[in-house]
Amino acid sequence: MTNPLFLKVAFLCVFQLLLISKPHASEAFATRHLVINSSKVILPRSNELPSCEIYCRGELLHTVQMAHLFKDSKTFVDMKLKKPPSETIEIFKNFMQSKNNAPNVTDIQNFVNDNFEDRGKEFVSWTPDDWHENPRFVNLIRNENLKKFANDLNGIWKILGRKMIDDVYEHPELYSIIPVPNPVIVPGGRFIEFYYWDSYWVIRGLLYSQMHHTARGMLSNFLSIIQRYGFIPNGGRVYYSKRSQPPLLAAMIKSYVEFTHDEQFAIDAVPTLAAEFEYFVDTHMVEVNGHKLAVYRDSSVGPRPESYREDFENAMIFDTPEKKQEFYSNIAAGAESGMDFSSRWFINGNGTNEGNLTDIKCRDIVAVDLNAILYWNAKLIAEFYLLDNNIEKATEYETKAAKILEAIEAVLWNEEVGVWLDYDLINKKPRNYFVPTNLSPLWAKAFNRKDTKKISESVLKYLRDLKIDKYPGGIPNTLQQSGEQWDFPNAWPPTQYVVIQGLENLQTPEAKDMSKSLAYKWVQSNYQAFVTTKAMHEKYDASVFGGTGGGGEYETQLGFGWSNGLVIELLVKYGDEITPANGVSKTSVMALITVTTIAVMASVFG
Ligand SMILES: *[C@@H]1O[C@H](CO)[C@@H](O)[C@H](O)[C@H]1NC(C)=O
Ligand SMILES: *[C@@H]1O[C@H](CO)[C@@H](O)[C@H](O)[C@H]1NC(C)=O
Ligand SMILES: *[C@@H]1O[C@H](CO)[C@@H](O)[C@H](O)[C@H]1NC(C)=O
Ligand SMILES: *[C@@H]1O[C@H](CO)[C@@H](O)[C@H](O)[C@H]1NC(C)=O
Repeated sequence: MTNPLFLKVAFLCVFQLLLISKPHASEAFATRHLVINSSKVILPRSNELPSCEIYCRGELLHTVQMAHLFKDSKTFVDMKLKKPPSETIEIFKNFMQSKNNAPNVTDIQNFVNDNFEDRGKEFVSWTPDDWHENPRFVNLIRNENLKKFANDLNGIWKILGRKMIDDVYEHPELYSIIPVPNPVIVPGGRFIEFYYWDSYWVIRGLLYSQMHHTARGMLSNFLSIIQRYGFIPNGGRVYYSKRSQPPLLAAMIKSYVEFTHDEQFAIDAVPTLAAEFEYFVDTHMVEVNGHKLAVYRDSSVGPRPESYREDFENAMIFDTPEKKQEFYSNIAAGAESGMDFSSRWFINGNGTNEGNLTDIKCRDIVAVDLNAILYWNAKLIAEFYLLDNNIEKATEYETKAAKILEAIEAVLWNEEVGVWLDYDLINKKPRNYFVPTNLSPLWAKAFNRKDTKKISESVLKYLRDLKIDKYPGGIPNTLQQSGEQWDFPNAWPPTQYVVIQGLENLQTPEAKDMSKSLAYKWVQSNYQAFVTTKAMHEKYDASVFGGTGGGGEYETQLGFGWSNGLVIELLVKYGDEITPANGVSKTSVMALITVTTIAVMASVFG
């Protein structure tokens, strides 16, 4: 009988030793070393697990994915190996030879059946040990229907809990999952592993639900991943390991400390957070008019393994390997942004956002949100160093934050439009298209306090002119209808939060008013959708009250981690007065009363 905890520790230690003794072949990785923590453990920056041989690239992946055995390409790369990767590769080589390098679909199906097990083998369902039947926040909600809604949402945490089986720690090479020590809350649907930026809203929801231990476990997982990989991959799979996602770990840890006052956790984490920050600075920066700013980008080659056939087929319109690779890189960069996909990342020949996915140029667009989040990271890292009385490091990171803020103001703030805008590096111009992340500096507090009044006025005017506050089902992600899932009319939880919390952070009465009415609308529309569909969705429809989202690469998914987290947070905030359908704010109630009074008076005196 082996103790599972022992296995985990042994796995992590052996893995670290492997990394130390056998640097990865890739020169870029082998020559760079990270000092990870205060005990000065030095790890090569490598992100290759042995199972990458099967799941990240190569002839086997190509052959199976192009055979279109499964409706969703992600299914295959989530299947478990029956034999170790090198042995499987040998079997595959013999298989190909025996079929004269031209196996038919039945042959390939048989090969997969013989050598792989069903997907989802790495996890078992897990009821979090700190789950509460009646979390305190529910009592703050006055309306009985919404109280029931909140209880239902709290119940979903149990459905989304996953724990890795011991075999993953014993035989990580048989799985595409990235092993982590603690159980996780997954988003739901096809997303059966943890995701990076989703976890920000999941963890806040868990904290409000008093599930501090589960939240802490997920944070520790992420820290352990940075210690092994140098950064946090998009999601918990080896095939995601050449790209990240909006880097929100520092902000997650800040949330955790706010709820638990466990400052030591932040102090212990800060060198690792600094390593992640430096990873972005080292690998994602471009220069614009003498300022350094970040773009989303990845370091993979070829199609995304989890959407291999789709990427490969879309690349067919490009006639050279270089152009194909440029497309793959931009696709992967778009995936790193979390907005996969959107006209936000399209630059066509005439420099506009019209066109289709083949116009994706994400690597050539300076994203407002990424820079705002990096500023936020630098500020939080400085704050955590200060908790540890490390004045020198705190000052260093304050300086880094100030530099990023300067760059955001110089390049991304647009005086004419009155908001921040993404910047097109090809045509050297701002991209004047609505995306909620245009307001992300408000969320990350990446703006100058002394300009608050002016920014509040211009940002509110920007939103009102575009009638962004008038959509019945929330804030659309863009105003462009391309058929991609991060375009009109879809409305997504994380970007609702960017605007709702961003306006709140401005603290002016007008901005707080709009924040509140957007928050009400979101909760009420989500509630309506929950009543009609009996489920929480990953995305919604801004154009319909209670409408759910569609479009994009895959079927719409239920669950759903970030949706639940966001509604819980908004219910905590407004639970004492919100009801299922009083979409009208106090001011419009007054307006309504006035209109009614005039109408009554008119009928009496008319
Ligand atoms: C596929 O090829 C195998 C031989 O490798 C053959 O027996 C089988 O009939 C073929 N199936 C189809 C559907 O062509
Ligand atoms: C630093 O690394 C050592 C050795 O791997 C480990 O025991 C320790 O927990 C790590 N410390 C932190 C703060 O991650
Ligand atoms: C830009 O190009 C697209 C095709 O890629 C075309 O549909 C659109 O009309 C053009 N817009 C302008 C302003 O020229
Ligand atoms: C996407 O745009 C390209 C270039 O304008 C065009 O050749 C291609 O047919 C379009 N694809 C689709 C699916 O519309």
